[in-house]
Amino acid sequence: MKKIIIAAFLFAFTNNIKAQTYTIQSPHNIIKATFLLNKNGQPHYAVYFNTKEVIKSSSMGFALKETYSVKGIQSIKDNFLVSSIDSSLVNEIWQPVWGEVKNIKNNYRQYSIHLIEKTDLQRKLDIIFRVFDDGIGFRYAFPKQPNLKYFIIADELTQFNLTADHKTFWIPGDYDENEYAYTTSKLSQVDGWKLPILSNNPKQINEPDEYAVQTPLMMKTDEGLYINIHEAALVNYPSMQLHVDRNNFSLSGSLVPDALGNKGYLRAPAITPWRTIIISDKATGILASKLVLNLNEPSKIANTSWIKPMKFIGVWWEMQTGKSGWNYSDNPDSVNNKKELFPNHHHGANTANVKHYIDFAASNGIKGLLVEGWNTGWEEWFNNWYGGHFDFVTPNPDFDVKEISEYAKHKGIQMIMHNETSGDAATYERQMDTAFRFMNKFGYTSVKTGYVGNIIPRGEHHDGQWMINHYIHAAQKAAQYKVMIDMHEPVRPTGLSRTYPNWLACEAGRGNEWNAFSDGNQPEHETIMPFTRLIGGPMDYTPGIFKIKGYSNVAGRQVHTTLAKQLALYVTMYSPLQMAADLPENYKAHMDAFQFIKDVAVDWDDTKFLEAEPGDYITIARKAKNKNDWFIGSITDENARETKINLDFLDKGKKYMATIYADGKDADWKNNPMEYVIKKQTVDSKSVLLLKLAPGGGCAISLIPIAIGK
Ligand code: NOJ
Ligand code: CA
Repeated sequence: MKKIIIAAFLFAFTNNIKAQTYTIQSPHNIIKATFLLNKNGQPHYAVYFNTKEVIKSSSMGFALKETYSVKGIQSIKDNFLVSSIDSSLVNEIWQPVWGEVKNIKNNYRQYSIHLIEKTDLQRKLDIIFRVFDDGIGFRYAFPKQPNLKYFIIADELTQFNLTADHKTFWIPGDYDENEYAYTTSKLSQVDGWKLPILSNNPKQINEPDEYAVQTPLMMKTDEGLYINIHEAALVNYPSMQLHVDRNNFSLSGSLVPDALGNKGYLRAPAITPWRTIIISDKATGILASKLVLNLNEPSKIANTSWIKPMKFIGVWWEMQTGKSGWNYSDNPDSVNNKKELFPNHHHGANTANVKHYIDFAASNGIKGLLVEGWNTGWEEWFNNWYGGHFDFVTPNPDFDVKEISEYAKHKGIQMIMHNETSGDAATYERQMDTAFRFMNKFGYTSVKTGYVGNIIPRGEHHDGQWMINHYIHAAQKAAQYKVMIDMHEPVRPTGLSRTYPNWLACEAGRGNEWNAFSDGNQPEHETIMPFTRLIGGPMDYTPGIFKIKGYSNVAGRQVHTTLAKQLALYVTMYSPLQMAADLPENYKAHMDAFQFIKDVAVDWDDTKFLEAEPGDYITIARKAKNKNDWFIGSITDENARETKINLDFLDKGKKYMATIYADGKDADWKNNPMEYVIKKQTVDSKSVLLLKLAPGGGCAISLIPIAIGK
């Protein structure tokens, strides 16, 4: 790792210094942040892209709440003096354990501004700015000090004052749920209680602030500037949502409370997560930004050789679509089976069925297999109010864990454990060691955890401080047992996979599964997700559904894409843990198209964001890790699209065999989603490909070097 820190110096200031604006320029002067204390001594910052104002002067600070032992505590927000400033310039390259690129450049100018109150308390607060060429991050630090020890954050007073009524891609500020469809509107039209279709959104939000939205929040100005607000390194602190002042286009931090309504419990010394603002005049600049990862700590796991990205299949979609069930009582042999109600229904996680999936994975080069419903407790898991009925070590009678593990090992397949906690995170913490030991014993290399429902016992929120610490604890525990982890229903990620690279993926957003049990995801959904949910980290979106219609008994239910677009998602929806979500039989019916899923990589040396517009289209090319193979994914929303792809990123002088998986001539997501054509042609770095995408369609391309002499 190359690290250069130059110009580290210290300013010292006396108590009678005049109000002064400090300017922090990004390394190549593209982004500028300013900082000042106003006449009340309250910190303010502003942000510029070149000379254009992006964030107008915005206040910073905290409202504190008195505790049992500290009465009459005052907010820590004004009456400050700047006591000193440290500054440095960092320019380094680091290599992620896995990722979209092999090398990540981390180049920023940092100012740590040390503030002290002019009051008798003389409490101290530091604000740390990192200004990159693609945006800024800032965080607060509470140094160790005599008059601020244990304290409760009542509110974070950070504002983001925008310059106009920007176009905004948002989901409502729900404290527990992030699996919403995105609404695109002006900021002034944000209204969580007027969400369009109930069945298309998981629930009507039940939080008090209908004008709060979740981050990553994606915006576009009328002048074509793209702005993304999120947070990085969310540790020991609640998640930040944003309250929208619809008249003044001002956003203010709104922290997710605990069950008592308190936001965060801190003890100095303490730091907050980074508040991040990514800015670019190109939509692709937002997708290419590594700012969130750069603001996270390097890996805390010393030996990472056991962490390996992979593709997997699952005894899963068959339950999502009602073909089989999670419950052992779905097995006709079970005494509780309701044969008269469900004559053809069965328990998916039975040994014979699992072996059938292992066989399919093994003969198609898919490394992993997830099995849900393998353990006891599923009969009463949903809307769990008491907890404690899953133990994660007791298989159902028809799931022979020993036989299955041996069979998987023999066939070279890695089993993925499923630990659905149904919100009983407190009990899960006590069960973890036992659960991970069980995984080690039976050779499971990964776990998918789940947090469906209310957090018990006392109604913490999925995005509150207690659960934030729980998710990190789960990732740390998994690492201790050399297990990779994929979390469903956690808080949306904030780049912590850099610090815990065994935390390969999360759901934390509206996945493909919503097409199984609701009105589904509209064709534009996957063109918005990379700008919003994926800004914090990879998503277990579960692409690859080939049987687009007819998998459900509910009339009209279908996947809202063409088959070719499902292939393109392997490139556009980045994840090092990528599911081939459909049933083996549906793949067997289209083995020519399945070839793309077999070939596509899950770990990358390089990524080119060729074109993008949130809500409309995305085209990405990626080079496989340690190989010369390239893969392209191009997707569109409900509109058909033609696009020219210049292959100038290929190695000069080399010939490649391009296999193009395209929408058929008359394909369209609604009426004719399954029509696709596969074409092969020789290309090189001078080639230009014309792609035609159907409404709701996509195109996937593999580019494999042709061996010389062939
Ligand atoms: C919701 C998850 O997203 C899904 O993948 C899983 O099958 C169910 N919970 C059951 O755990
Ligand atoms: Ca889910």
